[in-house]
Amino acid sequence: SHIPVITIDGPTASGKGTVAQLVATELGFHYLDSGALYRLTALSALYRGIALDDEQALAKSVESLNCGFKDGDIFLDRENVTMSIRAEEVGNTASKIAALPAVRKALVDLQLRFREAPGLIADGRDMGTVIFPDAELKVFLTASAEARAERRYKQLIDKGFSANMQDLLKDLNERDARDANRAVAPLKPAEGAYLLDTSDLTVNQAVEKVLGWYAVTK
Ligand code: C5P
Repeated sequence: SHIPVITIDGPTASGKGTVAQLVATELGFHYLDSGALYRLTALSALYRGIALDDEQALAKSVESLNCGFKDGDIFLDRENVTMSIRAEEVGNTASKIAALPAVRKALVDLQLRFREAPGLIADGRDMGTVIFPDAELKVFLTASAEARAERRYKQLIDKGFSANMQDLLKDLNERDARDANRAVAPLKPAEGAYLLDTSDLTVNQAVEKVLGWYAVTK
């Protein structure tokens, strides 16, 4: 039988993870944080000392990627890496290896497996364009670079990392440019996607928008 999917794509720190998780809870859906898979691949490459330009070795490493998701926690080889995959270094490394076609291809099946009854909400960069093109509802969530840098700053400080606004804004712009300009699965709104600019919205307002759009698809 058909399992419904909602996709939420958008740039770094746009708030899509927070919104997606709340919508998932509200609907009782499963949640796929596809960025976490790229971050796990990056962290495992850093651990294993795989060269970050060795496309074949990186793609191969995905086959033996031993990751787990439980109650909001994320594991790599049984180690709880929920916090460590959020480090900026890991995010930047993730964005570099995410530009490699063989790495993206190696991660497709893993992502499709998250589609389980009663439904899935998936967030990332290419959820609506590449991974779940038949999704019931596609959302492209954005926010100004300043709003996003500020959110990322708060997130990092809350998690006990140190952070600097100027560095964050620079990282963010670099990562946006890399994600939007790469040849495979560049960040862009899927056909038929609803655009949601959250610069001036509260989290709850954004969640209500998505739930409202989803209600109309049924
Ligand atoms: O969303 P998050 O910041 O955790 O993602 C980390 C990196 O992984 C992104 O900068 C992007 O390059 C890559 N990514 C991707 N496709 C996805 C999700 C993440 O290329 N679906």
